[in-house]
Amino acid sequence: MSSPIRRIAICTGGGDAPGLNAVIRATVIAATNLGWECYGIHEGYNGILFPERYPDGGVFKLTRDRVRGIAHLGGTILGTTNKGNPLHFPIRMPDGTVKEVDRTDEILEFFGRRELDALVSIGGDGSLTIAHALAKKGLRVVGVPKTIDNDLDKTNTTFGFDTAVAFATECLDRLHSTAESHQRIIVVEVMGRYAGWIALHAGISGGSHSILIPEIPFNLDKVAAKIRERDNQGRLYSLVTVAEGAKPADGHRAVLQAAEIGHEERLGGEGERVAKALQEITGKDARVVVLGHLLRGGSPTSFDRLAALRFGAAAVRALHEGHSGIMVALGFPNVNYVPLEEVAGRMKGVPLDCDTIQTGRDLGICFGD
Ligand code: F6P
Repeated sequence: MSSPIRRIAICTGGGDAPGLNAVIRATVIAATNLGWECYGIHEGYNGILFPERYPDGGVFKLTRDRVRGIAHLGGTILGTTNKGNPLHFPIRMPDGTVKEVDRTDEILEFFGRRELDALVSIGGDGSLTIAHALAKKGLRVVGVPKTIDNDLDKTNTTFGFDTAVAFATECLDRLHSTAESHQRIIVVEVMGRYAGWIALHAGISGGSHSILIPEIPFNLDKVAAKIRERDNQGRLYSLVTVAEGAKPADGHRAVLQAAEIGHEERLGGEGERVAKALQEITGKDARVVVLGHLLRGGSPTSFDRLAALRFGAAAVRALHEGHSGIMVALGFPNVNYVPLEEVAGRMKGVPLDCDTIQTGRDLGICFGD
């Protein structure tokens, strides 16, 4: 562990989030300033697990020039994937069945062979769980918390979240006038599989009248009552923000595609269900807008960009100080280090007693309960 660092690798895993390129840029510049070389791994760990797919052998050199002018760009110059977790890699057997194998030893072997001394792994829960497993096997690893969903524990916020909230808020701002002009209900579905952070923050900021999140199973009669209450006050339109993972108290999440080996379940359709049901209950015209992947695109806000740049610089600092098996986290006022074991496999939902939910309730927003 104490051998000097000369070369590091960077990987981005899971769904992309605005700010990934800013982390890459800061990591490369800070590392280069220390005299280290940087390499980017293609598409999560695919560059290592399938080197034959890439003309450069799966990793490519990241120089100062290569990361010039990328901090404001969405996506990731490394590519990413949310399939093929190396801890549970799906392999099709000759009899047609699929079994999962652990391929992390191949990653360690690759690092040894290519003389890569450390890894900066930028990702959400899945990527940080892999990073934790690699660290336990002896690889020098620092994790960086990414996800628009903001559902990672031990960091005040993840980068990507603020950008998603800002965009969803702008969409809600725009929908007020058209909903009001037509006296409609407009349901806005946002991402958020198991945590309702985006729906909660954008819903309150954007003046939504009801907000449905996975943490609070909902009853649509309550939402309909809120719509009628507004109607009685002469406010003849209503906006309802729904997290994709929200579910009725007496039902299930809307699943587009069930989970199978190597793939998580795909959610979607809750907004449509809610709009249809509210139209039936209230007799008002309802429309649905699904923001989906629009929330993951575009330039990171200055908040996310700065957080991402701070994370990248801090990851290099952490390695230089001799840390491994940690995640850089946003504390206040400084970035701090948290053991990966305290992060891996833990999901941070919206606490029901948080003041943001209370603020919503104080503003008269209906949470469907
Ligand atoms: O990044 C997390 C997330 O945005 C979830 O909220 C969403 O369910 C998921 O990614 C969808 O990812 P994809 O369509 O890329 O599989």
